[in-house]
Amino acid sequence: MPTDHDDSGLRAVLTRPRAYDAFQRLIGADTFRRWYVDTLLEPQTGWSILDIGCGPGTMVRFLPEGVAYHGFDMNARYIAFARQDLGDRGTFEVARVGDTPLRAGGFDVVMANAMLHHLDDAEASHLVDAAWAQLRPGGFLLTYDNAWVPEQSRLARWLIGHDRGRHVRTPAQYLELVQRRFADVRTTLRHDGYRIPYTLYTMKAVRP
Ligand SMILES: C[S@@+](CC[C@H](N)C(=O)[O-])C[C@H]1O[C@@H](n2cnc3c(N)ncnc32)[C@H](O)[C@@H]1O
Repeated sequence: MPTDHDDSGLRAVLTRPRAYDAFQRLIGADTFRRWYVDTLLEPQTGWSILDIGCGPGTMVRFLPEGVAYHGFDMNARYIAFARQDLGDRGTFEVARVGDTPLRAGGFDVVMANAMLHHLDDAEASHLVDAAWAQLRPGGFLLTYDNAWVPEQSRLARWLIGHDRGRHVRTPAQYLELVQRRFADVRTTLRHDGYRIPYTLYTMKAVRP
């Protein structure tokens, strides 16, 4: 079993695209995603967006028409589903974060949604370096992840402890990863993002 990503037991169900999307709806992630897009992403017509670890393409459903979207994920089943269901909304490919090229991509936005907590420090650092390279000057990296904070409820800690991602971090640890590259990082911390007790940390890091 890989140490960075645990698909054992009941978690295996979530590797199925429809089950993943249904679970997201069940916990109220749709409301959080709408807030995230409207408040932090603020998409503009004509933007190009790279979505690293795009899953079954869930975030595309929350984006307006008129953005050019490309997503990749290591789960081939998710990508096959996204191509079939959302092929008219963007392009999708099977790839690992570690394979993301460190070359200029000219993207307006790079998203890594619920991704960093799946990656060890080496691969997470690669993601940050790749995002920097792939962004145009003035573009930004946008992330959200579950996080450990002292004030969260015991139930939130239990739920987050059972996530498939094996690298949940504190806000300070997530920030340190991104600040290796990006000086300008704006963050939020929410305990009310989902219907269930949960803690979500967002980072918006602008490339000068
Ligand atoms: C919690 S899901 C988030 C999916 C999506 N970003 C969303 O908004 O719903 C985490 C995703 O990361 C993918 N993943 C984990 N490690 C990865 C890696 N090293 N390279 C590419 N994808 C990875 C998993 O397959 C899964 O789709």
